[in-house]
Amino acid sequence: ETIHRQVADIIDQHRQKPGALLPILHAIQDTLGFVPPESVFQIALALNRSRAEVHGVITFYHHFRTTPPADHVIQVCRAEACQSMGSDQLVDHVSRRVATCRAGQFDVHPVYCLGLCASAPAMMIDDTLHARVSPQKFDQLVDRLEA
Ligand code: FES
Repeated sequence: ETIHRQVADIIDQHRQKPGALLPILHAIQDTLGFVPPESVFQIALALNRSRAEVHGVITFYHHFRTTPPADHVIQVCRAEACQSMGSDQLVDHVSRRVATCRAGQFDVHPVYCLGLCASAPAMMIDDTLHARVSPQKFDQLVDRLEA
């Protein structure tokens, strides 16, 4: 099924509702993981809106992304306990390591406390928490994900 077809189906399911634009955008992102830029015209046409209007809504809400999500999401804790245990150096290391990986493989975000302060520095990779993450330990985790 092409993206165009999927988007068309989603539009059909929601277009009669008042304020259909947001439900449509949410449904597209839930289904595809992002709102493809090429679907903006399709949505605008179906809802009788301008392309600029649809684009404006997408960019206004930080929730919407216009590029496919990475295969893995890395959240590094930047809160106090982790800072005091070297999360700054860890973040530098993570950026350098991830820069050597294929594009689209990892998204890195800061996060503020993962509840593992006693075992800092902490990070979360996808749905898994990791405590006392040293640069070496991080490399091993990435190696495993890349394998
Ligand atoms: Fe990092 Fe709480 S400060 S887990």
